[in-house]
Amino acid sequence: MSAPKKLFIKTYGCQMNVYDSERMAEALGSGGYVETKSPDDADMILLNTCHIREKAAEKVYSELGRFKGLKAAKPDLKIGVAGCVAQAEGQEIMRRQPLVDLVVGPQSYHRLPEMEAKAREGQKVLDTDFPDEDKFEKLKSRPIAKRGPTAFLTVQEGCDKFCAFCVVPYTRGAEVSRPVDRVLGEARDLVERGVREITLLGQNVNAYHGAGSDGSDCTLAQLIWELDKVDGLERIRFTTSHPNDMQDDLIEAHGRCSKLMPYLHLPVQAGSDKILKRMNRAHTSESYLRLIERIRAARPDILISGDFIVGFPEETEADFQATLDLVEEVKYGTAYSFKYSTRPGTPAAERPQVDPVEADDRLQRLQALLTKQQREIQDSMVGREVGVLFEKAGRFPGQMVGKSDYLHAVHVADCDRAIGDLARVRILSSGTNSLAAALID
Ligand code: SAH
Ligand code: SF4
Ligand code: F3S
Repeated sequence: MSAPKKLFIKTYGCQMNVYDSERMAEALGSGGYVETKSPDDADMILLNTCHIREKAAEKVYSELGRFKGLKAAKPDLKIGVAGCVAQAEGQEIMRRQPLVDLVVGPQSYHRLPEMEAKAREGQKVLDTDFPDEDKFEKLKSRPIAKRGPTAFLTVQEGCDKFCAFCVVPYTRGAEVSRPVDRVLGEARDLVERGVREITLLGQNVNAYHGAGSDGSDCTLAQLIWELDKVDGLERIRFTTSHPNDMQDDLIEAHGRCSKLMPYLHLPVQAGSDKILKRMNRAHTSESYLRLIERIRAARPDILISGDFIVGFPEETEADFQATLDLVEEVKYGTAYSFKYSTRPGTPAAERPQVDPVEADDRLQRLQALLTKQQREIQDSMVGREVGVLFEKAGRFPGQMVGKSDYLHAVHVADCDRAIGDLARVRILSSGTNSLAAALID
């Protein structure tokens, strides 16, 4: 038997790309590939790319340039580009970088093994179709190897919201939900392989409306209650949600479903109603704040996370102040903030841009406030009793590291628990990026 071929995958962008990379590795695994941690000994290199901001997209070309030497030394090496840049500029990639053998968009991953075979024959292959079939069914993994205690599971993909700044509706296509039975089947399989916590993924995960066993539409809350019944699955999370799809049954599930963790990523992007309108967000800052109130009424200790864009076209200092005011009111446990990045083909790209120096200054001020809030909320965990799922051994002998219910990193000294164990702990102190805790017997 010949030695297995080696696959090196590098993943950029969001959690859905992480999930997709795992599935692509599994699909190519059935074709005889094993993963390697270094591009140097790879027979195939796949870059799973992100198109969300300009920098993310440019990285692909600089990274590809670096493989020139490798390809010269090993002409059999195949180089592929997957993900959202592949979808958005597949032809352009092929033209700009002759090293690339294969370009595959996010909706065509199930065709990867055939594409790889063609590339091996020396053909250049490009597939950025949006085929009308469940790629995940076709990508079904071999029921193999144990894996870590946490996993992502895509349940919904694509976006129909068309925020004026965003490429996702173009790169991932229209909203599609996977049927409940398939999600449950995959969840059970993950649990058998050692998974204790599943994060349900979707670009608009709370717009999930998959077909139930009787064919009727099922909401995300109903799906969560189905997953709640899966023995051995201890924790459920979901991301990313849109404020306008936060239905009553989902809010209620946060209050009643003990496996659903008290953490919610609910991006608002900006605090000024003028800007929200121009972003095509279809909600106001007031409606967002009232929504947060209702969620906190159902689950008072929930940790809220968010995304923000500063320097969106025509954002004034007063508009930016409205974002700071909203942040002051919500109090975020974590948040991601970005400077607006012009994306060709999106409506906002054509509008008057904010001075980049001004935008930088706003980003710094917003990040200072968000960091302060994050710090305060993390510090307020000291003295509290929380659940922790252990994910790995710590740096010191006897130490274990895991995530709390609220997704804080927690380390426990003199810990006799194993990876994948859940425990109750008391938080002792709060460090820069993590909490120290002790087991409660
Ligand atoms: N579907 C998710 C995530 C979209 S991308 C959602 O709707 O929240 C993740 C984040 O990237 C967005 O929430 C937004 O804050 C940021 N983002 C998207 N497009 C951007 C752009 N053109 N410039 C800067 N940030 C952007
Ligand atoms: Fe992009 Fe808006 Fe859709 Fe999120 S909801 S993926 S920000 S268009
Ligand atoms: Fe990036 Fe595509 Fe995700 S653009 S954020 S990899 S959906």
